[in-house]
Amino acid sequence: MRPILYYNMNFQLTEEQIAVQMAARDFAKNELLPGVIERDEHQKFPAEQIKKLGELGFMGMMVDPKYGGGGMDTISYVLAMEEISKVDASASVCMSVNNSLVCWGLETFCNEEQKMKYLVPLASGQKIGAFLLSEPEAGSDATSQRTTAVDMGDHYLVNGIKNWITNGNSASTYLVIAQTHVEKGHKGINALIIDKDTPGVVVGAKENKLGIRGSDTHSIMFQDVKVPKENRIGDDGFGFTFAMKVLSGGRIGIASQALGIASGAYELALKYSKERKAFGTEISNHQAIAFKLADMATEIEAARLLCFKAAWHKDEHMDYTLSSAMAKLYASTIAQTVTNEAIQIHGGYGYVKEFHVERLMRDAKITQIYEGTSEVQKIVISRTILK
Ligand code: CAA
Repeated sequence: MRPILYYNMNFQLTEEQIAVQMAARDFAKNELLPGVIERDEHQKFPAEQIKKLGELGFMGMMVDPKYGGGGMDTISYVLAMEEISKVDASASVCMSVNNSLVCWGLETFCNEEQKMKYLVPLASGQKIGAFLLSEPEAGSDATSQRTTAVDMGDHYLVNGIKNWITNGNSASTYLVIAQTHVEKGHKGINALIIDKDTPGVVVGAKENKLGIRGSDTHSIMFQDVKVPKENRIGDDGFGFTFAMKVLSGGRIGIASQALGIASGAYELALKYSKERKAFGTEISNHQAIAFKLADMATEIEAARLLCFKAAWHKDEHMDYTLSSAMAKLYASTIAQTVTNEAIQIHGGYGYVKEFHVERLMRDAKITQIYEGTSEVQKIVISRTILK
C-alpha cells in the first residue's frame, strides 16, 4: 500500500496570513454585518460591499499582481473565505466564484491577450465574473451539455440556457461551457469567454431562494450569440477538462464557505450560552449545552484542517482533486449539524431573524448542492480511492 506522507506539517500561520484573516474579519464586522438581515429579507445583492472587497484585493486574491491580483496563497484564501462567510454567505459565494472559478481559470489556462483583456479587471475587482456550466438537464451530469457553440469559421454561434448562475446579473464576464462537436461527447466541449452585453445574451429572472438570498442567481439564455474564436479557452475540445479542473479549486472555496457558516453559528451559540441563564445558571454550565458546543468545536476544527490540507496541496502544485472533494463533502455536512445545533442552543431566539443563526442554517444547505452535490463529491472520492 502507498504510504500516506504528512511531511512539512506546520500549523503556524504566517504573519501575512494572520493579517489577511484580521482584515477579512474586520471587513465582515464593519461592512457586511450592518444590513445583512435586510439584504437577506429583500434578496438584495451586496453590490457596494463587493466593490469594497475588490478594492481591498479580496476578489482576485491568488492572482499574480502583474494581472491586478493580490498574489496571496490558497491558505490565505481559506482564511478570508471563512471570515466573510461567518457573516454573509451571499457575499462570500460571489467572492468564491470570482476567485476560484473565474480568475483561477483565466490565469491558468488563458493566453496573454485574454488575460490582459479579461483577467485584469476581474482580479482587481473592477468587474465580476460568472461560471456557466449548469443547465436544466446538466447539473451533476456535467458532460450532458445541451448549449451549443457551433463553429462558423471565424466565430462560434452559441445557443442554449444555463441555470442557477451565481453572479448571473452582476457579472460582466461569463465563462461558458458549450458543446461544439456532439459526436465527440465531453471531448467536443469548449469553454468560451462571453461578454454579458453581447447581443443575444438574455438574463432571466432572479431565483427566489431558501438561503444565500442576497446572492445574484439567474438563468442565462443565449440566442444566436456570436463569440469570436479568440475567446475560446485552450485548444478545441478542452472545455470539459477546463470545467473539471476549475471546479476542483472551486470546491476549496465552497468548503471554506461551509466552514465559515458553521464557525459563525458556533461563535454566536458559544457567546449566547455564556449570557443566557436558565435553572439558576448560564446555560453553558449545563452539560446538555456544553457537550453540544464540544461536538461543534471538534467538527469545525476537522473541517478547517481538511480545507487547509486541500489549500496546501494546491499551493504545493500537488493534485488536490481528492482533498478538495473531501473538504467540501465534510465541511458542507457539518455546516448542517452545527447551524442546526446553534439554533437549538438559542431556543426560541434562534428561530427569529435578529439572532442570525436561522439565516446561517438556511445558507448552509446550498453548500451541499452547488459546485457538485455531496453525491458528486462521493463519486470523485470513491473513484480515486478505488482506483
Ligand atoms: N481534472 C481533469 N480532468 C478530469 C477531472 C479533473 N478533476 N475530472 C474528470 N476529468 C476528465 C476525466 O479524466 C475524463 O476524461 P477522459 O475521458 O479523457 O478520461 C472526463 O473528464 C470525463 O470524466 P468522467 O468520466 O469522470 O465524467 P462523468 O460523466 O462520470 O462525471 C463528475 C464526473 C465528477 C460527476 C462530473 O460530471 C462533475 O463534477 N459533476 C458536477 C458538476 C458541478 O460541480 N457543477 C457545479 C456547477 S458550477 C457552480 O455551482 C458554480 C456556482 O454558481 C456556485
